[in-house]
Amino acid sequence: MTTPRLFSGMQPSADSLHFGNWAGALLQWKDMQDTHDATYCVVDLHAITVPQDPKALTHQTRRTAAQYIAAGIDPEKSTLFVQSHVPAHTQLAWVLNTITAFGEAGRMTQFKDKSQKEGTDHASVGLFTYPILQAADILLYDADVVPVGEDQRQHIELTRDLAGRFNQRFGDTLVQPEAKILKETAKIYDLQHPGSKMSKSGESPQGIVWLLDDEKTLTKKIKSAVTDSEPEVRFDPEAKPGVSNLLTMFSITSGMTIAQAEAHFAGSGYGDLKTQVAEAVVAAFAPIKARTEELLSDPAELDRLLALGASRANEVATATLQRVYDAVGF
Ligand code: ADP
Ligand code: NA
Repeated sequence: MTTPRLFSGMQPSADSLHFGNWAGALLQWKDMQDTHDATYCVVDLHAITVPQDPKALTHQTRRTAAQYIAAGIDPEKSTLFVQSHVPAHTQLAWVLNTITAFGEAGRMTQFKDKSQKEGTDHASVGLFTYPILQAADILLYDADVVPVGEDQRQHIELTRDLAGRFNQRFGDTLVQPEAKILKETAKIYDLQHPGSKMSKSGESPQGIVWLLDDEKTLTKKIKSAVTDSEPEVRFDPEAKPGVSNLLTMFSITSGMTIAQAEAHFAGSGYGDLKTQVAEAVVAAFAPIKARTEELLSDPAELDRLLALGASRANEVATATLQRVYDAVGF
């Protein structure tokens, strides 16, 4: 039996990743390294589809890569690289552009959401074709599985459709991947707006728990989390979204199940709950923050690790692109 291949990535769109990115992506990526031939990418080409600042992009790309490593992605065991270091991504995206129907691209709901700020008339064509570049990212590595959140399901379907269509027109060339939708229990909500998911682009700065926040800031944010007026610590996402979110965060950082966490807090008040969640999160993040700072303080070492990843990624990606070029007649 061959080891299944996996591809996943995140945009370098902030200085720090947040609790949701860690719980919903990095923790699972870390575990999957042992059972998969894993490729993890910092997707900087995707990050320029919205207005951006070049200095911030450089900085955020390096910080995102450092956080992948600090959270347990092993650059020797897995392939960890920056998307713009591998030219085949844009080259395959062009070929896939030519087999994507305009209407098909237009049905991608994320463009509708993401273009709202600028309006569809001013949003970039790059934002519109973003899912096609994403398909190229995945297909270059012959990925069997793509671990993503529920919001990415449509893009993985498009990737499958494009691979299938390419193979039908030009002969068997590309591997059709499966989405692995990450666990619903790992969905983390904004501390101030527990009805909305925690997001890098979230509206209230106090609601986002950043991986690189210092201890004081983390503690203050968690102690100010919105809860409800009942006294009971109980897991009930519908009726008690704030408290349930804190229990989820506690469960992930302490290693207890939700039921064990509920039992642990039986008879406790929200003050006690928040104190213990804050302590658990601070303890879980401290080594990640320290390792990130260490990596960022040694730019030559980080460059070396990213060059190693780019070299491995290039080898696989160039071979796939060559199969595609041969198939289309280049
Ligand atoms: P953001 O919304 O903060 O920009 P991304 O869309 O870049 O996050 O998501 C990157 C990864 O992190 C995805 O795999 C996604 O499923 C995961 N993720 C993002 N936000 C959350 C969250 N609130 N809870 C759980 N997982 C999340
Ligand atoms: Na997002």
